[in-house]
Amino acid sequence: MAQQADVFKKLIAHAKEYGFIFQSSEIYDGLSAVYDYGQLGVELKNNLKEYWWKSMVLLHENIVGLDSAIFMHPTVWKASGHVGAFNDPLIDNKDSKKRYRADVLIEEHREKIHAKIDKEVEKAEKRFGDKFDKQQFLATNERVVGYAKQIEELSARFVAALEASNLDEIKNIIVENGIVCPVSGTCNWTDVRQFNLMFSTQMGSVSEDAGTIYLRPETAQGIFVNYLNVQKSGRMKIPFGIAQIGKAFRNEIVARQFIFRMREFEQMEMQFFVKPGEEMKWYELWKERRLKWHHALGLGVEKYRFHNHEKLAHYANAAADIEFNFPFGFKEIEGIHSRTDFDLKNHQEFSGKKLQYFDNEENQSYIPYVIETSIGLDRLFLSVLATAYDEEVLDKEDGTKDERVVLRIPPALAPIKLAVLPLTKKDGLPEKASEIVNDLKFEFNTYYEEKDTIGRRYRRMDAIGTPYCVTVDHQSLQDNTVTIRYRDTMLQERVKISELKELIKGNVSIVSMLKKI
Ligand code: GAP
Repeated sequence: MAQQADVFKKLIAHAKEYGFIFQSSEIYDGLSAVYDYGQLGVELKNNLKEYWWKSMVLLHENIVGLDSAIFMHPTVWKASGHVGAFNDPLIDNKDSKKRYRADVLIEEHREKIHAKIDKEVEKAEKRFGDKFDKQQFLATNERVVGYAKQIEELSARFVAALEASNLDEIKNIIVENGIVCPVSGTCNWTDVRQFNLMFSTQMGSVSEDAGTIYLRPETAQGIFVNYLNVQKSGRMKIPFGIAQIGKAFRNEIVARQFIFRMREFEQMEMQFFVKPGEEMKWYELWKERRLKWHHALGLGVEKYRFHNHEKLAHYANAAADIEFNFPFGFKEIEGIHSRTDFDLKNHQEFSGKKLQYFDNEENQSYIPYVIETSIGLDRLFLSVLATAYDEEVLDKEDGTKDERVVLRIPPALAPIKLAVLPLTKKDGLPEKASEIVNDLKFEFNTYYEEKDTIGRRYRRMDAIGTPYCVTVDHQSLQDNTVTIRYRDTMLQERVKISELKELIKGNVSIVSMLKKI
């Protein structure tokens, strides 16, 4: 775990050094949990957006896009339940003065008990070798059974407290389980309080309450309030979906783990409107579709798992997270929610405008039910970057070792697809290399670099995840061939310049990923 934390620190430093992610307002010592995407980060982010957008809007004839405003009428957030219920339970440690999410403290404690079980299993596996029967061990080993019982009892108590919004009981769980502040190491806690996560600001010149508006904590509401506009103007028939990519804002109590939990972040959400009573069928289908979409990224199917919600959000009748194995363990990357007709029904009530859909086939009007898929773009970015980061030890011909840092980003997502490198800065090689760039830059992101030795330039391209480098040398001037070097294998081969486009294009196109879904 310590080793993983170390690699994670290096990853954050790497992301800064090579222009992927910078701390916001760094020259003023930064702004907590707010980040800027640099010149390479923005390319990777755009590629991720393209993959998501095309998979939704291009591949489904019944899903269309939307770009709604961040500012919305304040009543939207009353109707959606966010003013009343978009809270996290917070707790302070009186000694360290540090603030925590009370529910996260409990969840982390539970994870620690899980880790103890894993450790016992690991030890037993080593001891018994091939004869080891994991199921039998889990069911019979006294210590493991004790840990499992602890987890079960803790979970049942925790869920009941969450369901009842019983803040005193949440504190009791923390105290009775001896959960201490990681900084002070003490159990000297304040009471648990609810904290609303929405940022508010004033619109116009009025300063009284009527002018208070919120920065949206989810993009979904922009879709709900526009659903009839889109349905009517687009002549959409149920079932249909509306997809949107945009910024969301949450005043997170504890913002940690780099871009995993930010106060300003980006969501890619799709609301799918269905006939009431059919929502569970669609819910299951979208769970399956979304997992397949993640798998097609090629980061490894074992890195994903589903987690069903113990406590449902105020709007949902079923909900699951897709979790990804980040460097700090399995955590939510995407939520799939069956939101019932909660939002539309409330907007109808609060606005006084009919939001019913007229179903021609059924000859009846109803408020549709909604299945939502909601993925955080920044978490997706982190999943790709963390998986791609590799410190590779290389065997050199003279028997010594060398090391390179390589970002094994899937080629279709890589910020730069091809680097064109003249071997020297003279003899017409730069001109030949520029010719190649000028031809291929219309097809994919191409980069020219003539500074440094060729070895250093290769390493730099490895470090930013460029899947292909071509080197232009004196032979190129004679026979119009170049050396192409592959990032992952470092193998090199001689190819005709005229064949480069076909060789690279297919592998670096988002289409290659879309076809795997
Ligand atoms: N409209 C439903 C909704 O907002 P959510 O589970 O609260 O549901 C959806 O958020 C996704 O947004 C999460 O799975 C996560 O990827 C991302 N997300 C939520 N809060 C975030 C934060 N503070 N920083 C980065 N991403 C966040």
